[in-house]
Amino acid sequence: MRLNVGVVFGGKSVEHEVSIISALQMVENMNKLKYNPITIYLSKENEFYYHKDMNKIDFFKDLNRVKLVSKKILFQKNHPSNEIHEIKNNRLKKLYPIDLVFLLVHGTTSEDGTLSAFFELLDMPYVGSGILSSAINQNKWKMKQILENNNIQSVSYIGFYESDYYNNKEHIIRKCEEIGYPLIIKPASLGSSVGITKCYDREGLNKAIITSLQYDVEIVVEKVILDLLELNCSALGDYSNLEVSSIEQVFQKDEILSYQDKYLRGKTKNSKGMESTNRELPAKINEKLRLEIETTAVNAIKIIGGSGVSRIDFLYDKSEGKLYLNEINTIPGSLAFYLWAAKGKEYKTLIDDLIVLALNKYRTKNTKISSYDTNLLSLPKNFNKGKISN
Ligand SMILES: Nc1ncnc2c1ncn2[C@@H]1O[C@H](COP(=O)(O)OP(=O)(O)O)[C@@H](O)[C@H]1O
Ligand SMILES: [Mg+2]
Repeated sequence: MRLNVGVVFGGKSVEHEVSIISALQMVENMNKLKYNPITIYLSKENEFYYHKDMNKIDFFKDLNRVKLVSKKILFQKNHPSNEIHEIKNNRLKKLYPIDLVFLLVHGTTSEDGTLSAFFELLDMPYVGSGILSSAINQNKWKMKQILENNNIQSVSYIGFYESDYYNNKEHIIRKCEEIGYPLIIKPASLGSSVGITKCYDREGLNKAIITSLQYDVEIVVEKVILDLLELNCSALGDYSNLEVSSIEQVFQKDEILSYQDKYLRGKTKNSKGMESTNRELPAKINEKLRLEIETTAVNAIKIIGGSGVSRIDFLYDKSEGKLYLNEINTIPGSLAFYLWAAKGKEYKTLIDDLIVLALNKYRTKNTKISSYDTNLLSLPKNFNKGKISN
């Protein structure tokens, strides 16, 4: 029997459109003999919609129309099964049972653990990292702190809150200048280069911080690596077993590898989305660096407790000969399928692996004790004279 796989994409994030591309690519590559994909669009207003044509990219040309012509739905736990229901005239009508959910969202309020939490609460198996690791990875500042404590190095940086900046600008600017110009300023929780600027002097630094503060209350300021190689690889699995993909080198076009570079450049009718980034795959790097990347990627995913498929992005300083971990994406664009294809794993197989992992994770979770059947309130009347501790 085919598994009904709810593919959830969209979401309230600057990477909304990227997520649509990732999801439809994935659906196209699913083995339809094993899975029945049910595409579920999460609007920018955080409402779920279903339409049978949602597996076609043209359907999303006008996002307002998508909401008008699609069925507004709800996820319903109907123990032990999970279902989606259409909301029609204030009534619920069952549409499909859902065996598991495939999260294909990028960025804040989705890839950051929010959606993982939603499906944890519904007790539904889902493909994607858990709440904690997703949340850590979405925050560049907190992620660096955790990795640093485990001897995985980031480029010299400082992180601060909006209030730190406005309450003591001089202190923050001094700390940044101790790192030394040029600096790169990033909102802690965004992606796709949104809100990121480089600066070369104090005036530029203040401007860049104010730009980043339009997007986030947490800011990261880093040293710019001038003699830079950007190297990425993907990891698949969880704490018990992790496989690493081929390593790619990606090339900058503008000053910063921008949203344009990543998704829009060279876009044609049949654009392959994230696949169209300028890259060399496999990257031409020596064996020592390859091993360092692979080992660091596996350690990093283990430290943050990631599961599923992640992309781990590195910055390599050629003149220093030093490797730094830049960021981890727990739901990478295109699920980083091209990095696996370069290693001989077809996209179809990657999807199979992810689904097996998700189902195993769910089963393991359910073997652990999470509650007791005893009802405290049914105990003898004077039980509450004692102290209750939790
Ligand atoms: N410390 C740095 N030195 C030089 N370039 C950097 C540095 N940090 C980021 N960049 C450039 O900016 C791009 C976006 O930064 P990144 O931290 O990856 O943010 P995002 O989450 O938006 O992808 C990188 O792909 C790289 O091209
Ligand atoms: Mg990046």
